[in-house]
Amino acid sequence: MIKYIGSKRVLVPHIVRAVSAFPESGRILDLFSGTSRVARGLKESGRYVIANDHLAYAATLARCYVQADAERWRAQAASLIAELAEVEPAPGYFTKAFCEDARYFQPHNGARVDAIREKIATLLLPPELEAIALVSLMEAADRVDSTTGVQMAYLKQWAPRAFNDLELRMPAILPGPGESLCLDAVEAASQVEADVAYIDPPYNQHSYMGNYHVWESLVRWDKPATYGIANKRVQCREYKSDFNSKRRIRQGLEAVLDAVRCPHLVVSFNNEGHLERDEMVGLLERRGQVGVVAVDFKRYVGAQIGIYSPNGEKVGRVSHLRNKEYLFVVSARQASVAVVCEAIEASIEEAALASLRSKGKRKGHEPERRAER
Ligand SMILES: C[S@@+](CC[C@H](N)C(=O)[O-])C[C@H]1O[C@@H](n2cnc3c(N)ncnc32)[C@H](O)[C@@H]1O
Repeated sequence: MIKYIGSKRVLVPHIVRAVSAFPESGRILDLFSGTSRVARGLKESGRYVIANDHLAYAATLARCYVQADAERWRAQAASLIAELAEVEPAPGYFTKAFCEDARYFQPHNGARVDAIREKIATLLLPPELEAIALVSLMEAADRVDSTTGVQMAYLKQWAPRAFNDLELRMPAILPGPGESLCLDAVEAASQVEADVAYIDPPYNQHSYMGNYHVWESLVRWDKPATYGIANKRVQCREYKSDFNSKRRIRQGLEAVLDAVRCPHLVVSFNNEGHLERDEMVGLLERRGQVGVVAVDFKRYVGAQIGIYSPNGEKVGRVSHLRNKEYLFVVSARQASVAVVCEAIEASIEEAALASLRSKGKRKGHEPERRAER
């Protein structure tokens, strides 16, 4: 899967445990699905998942990992990916914009991305098959990029992995049905009825469109005009999400909470976000009883490396290396909130013990053994 700020990679098992602990949990809506890691984990656990994200690359990830039924598409996808791997390199828009004008990838890999993407466009594939091919290409490019995990800047010196050759692999698709939507969260929330909604909105000023503009342009293949050193698509200039604004995030969340048609919620939020934990509890109380479990984490890799100017000079030091992810549990029934919070705590405890056993020390995450209800 691609590198992604705010991805819940380490939290996936805990979220799956949480969702499964509600008395009804057959049908799940993931309103801000990003990489689809959580949605995929939920599908793998046997649930029917509807994954939504308003960006095209994220909806494509969901079409691949949630909507595509492996039993229906695996064989065709495998031969398509083998065919795409043989396409002759041909530099074009991608190489010029993202390997020459900006240096996210080496030109020899850019020329392959261009040729493979053009080929996918000419094949006019069914949506699921096209999504699997695009995800295979996006993930292959991600493995040879030269960034710290966001596309707001590229590294001054090439990352060692950028010298590797682009290699298409088969995405780990799952058997069974599911759905992918590409809508604003409020619209998706008002359209879909489910047992549980998982809500993981952006929590700071950095927009996902800006952070991952290369993936958006690769998936849309609309070859937009670009601007600045990062060579972002011009659309990033006018793109605004309530969730990226300290002033508007409250109203954005209220609109989602008022629209959502699910009796139970699990909400992720970070202690470095625009809302304090108690403010979030206050907002969520409009939907029922609220419980909170906090999980302690290492900060994302960019924050650990330091703060750099556009020409690669270190200009600042990071203030701290750990942060907290909160999981808020919301339901009309106090008993359900208690059961779900206990399930999350048990899951965190088990993961910490397993990590201790396998590595001889605690790594990655440590639970704060506290649930507030
Ligand atoms: C914190 S990330 C989700 C990460 C995801 N749970 C994962 O593990 O990969 C937030 C996501 O919300 C999406 N988003 C932002 N504003 C949105 C909106 N108004 N409607 C729908 N999706 C939105 C972003 O594109 C981004 O992928």
